[in-house]
Amino acid sequence: MEKIVSFCKRKGFIFQSSEIYGGLGGFYDYGPLGVQMKRNIKESYWKFMVNSRPNVVGLDSAIISNPRVWEASGHVSNFSDPLTECKKCHKRFRADHLMEAANVTELSGVKCPECGGELMEVREFNLMLKTFIGPVVDDSSVAYLRPETAQCIFTNFKNVLDTQRLKMPFGIAQIGKAFRNEITPGNFIFRTREFEQMEMEFFVKPGEQEEWYQYWINESMRFLTEVLGIKKENLRIKPAAKEDLAHYAIACSDIEYNFPSIGWSEIEGIASRGDYDLSQHEKFSGQELKYFDEVNHEKYIPYVIEPSIGVDRLLLALICDSYQELEKGRSGDSDSSEIVLKLNSKLSPMQFAVLPLVKNKEEITSKAKEVFALLSNSFSGEYDETGTIGKRYRRQDEIGTPYCVTVDFDTLNDNAVTVRNRDTMSQERISIDNLVDYFNKNV
Ligand code: GAP
Repeated sequence: MEKIVSFCKRKGFIFQSSEIYGGLGGFYDYGPLGVQMKRNIKESYWKFMVNSRPNVVGLDSAIISNPRVWEASGHVSNFSDPLTECKKCHKRFRADHLMEAANVTELSGVKCPECGGELMEVREFNLMLKTFIGPVVDDSSVAYLRPETAQCIFTNFKNVLDTQRLKMPFGIAQIGKAFRNEITPGNFIFRTREFEQMEMEFFVKPGEQEEWYQYWINESMRFLTEVLGIKKENLRIKPAAKEDLAHYAIACSDIEYNFPSIGWSEIEGIASRGDYDLSQHEKFSGQELKYFDEVNHEKYIPYVIEPSIGVDRLLLALICDSYQELEKGRSGDSDSSEIVLKLNSKLSPMQFAVLPLVKNKEEITSKAKEVFALLSNSFSGEYDETGTIGKRYRRQDEIGTPYCVTVDFDTLNDNAVTVRNRDTMSQERISIDNLVDYFNKNV
């Protein structure tokens, strides 16, 4: 994991937030390559979840909403983690994490992992981040930064239903930021205080929830393995024990990834939320949030199945899954090690790199720039003319670029380029006229 963290910084994927001021615990910034990869992940999700399904629509709600939303959802009273503090060094810890590490069920006897000091009694610590709205800072102006994107899907249930002519079962998906004042953020971008979620609330007729719960577990695995290309052996499904369920869930399964150093940890949760959320919002808002089934003349509050993925955890899993370090280089006889990031080509930050063979021949560089302009209409890519061609290939292998396009002297005669494949290192000659088709087929 240390190698991954330093790789992400060195290559411009992820930086510590406000690093020049010493950073801020639990916050990270995405650099030029990280932001592009994140966009590609979200794009793949949106295609899979929204664009390819006639019964799933999208939403983009505000991060801050009326605080009553969070009273209704139960977050104000229930969204907390058990906190303990060292009496000596005053460091704070999640009590459940300390007990898990010590393999005990009670905190008594467990000492501070930093200084060995005695720990204070456990108290519940609410994870919601607060802010104040308007010019007066008092209790009446308190608002919360959403701790999940899901609730604003529920509060918009009626708006979507009234405007979209949807029939049961149907889903509403949203991608957006969420904030939690985690007691112990850590493990790089695995547990942060600001992160992004891709969530979908799927509304079903009560009684049909079990079938749809299984369906969305299968679909979630299909997305991770077949669409994004994560290795099956690095994923597992872990059903939650009844006592570990969140306050709203009647059943939940986590999809875990086997991270280096961290081990098996949740990247996605699929929850069967019953009618908890819509019933609560109906009660607190006084607005009816029911579905009217015109065929059977029935009115009911639908049940909900929710697949929820953390974008940051998913991005970390994808980098871990595709990072390969070859001690003797790709040729097998090099003196130094080489890195290849074998990302699915649609997720790679750069899907192509255009490399003029030489940089001091105007005809070649201007042709290469033309090729760059052609491909960059539809794909993300780089133009790179610095260093030997071998070094430039290595640089692109490291950041996961699936195809390098070299413009050479022959290009000026045959209007063709050499396309090198990152994984096989094989090269083929492709006419510039067919290049966009080639990329459409392969990326
Ligand atoms: N709406 C349900 C919900 O929010 P969750 O299990 O608390 O459920 C869903 O969160 C996903 O969000 C997790 O599987 C994880 O990928 C991501 N996530 C949760 N807390 C996170 C944190 N502190 N940092 C990064 N990602 C987080």
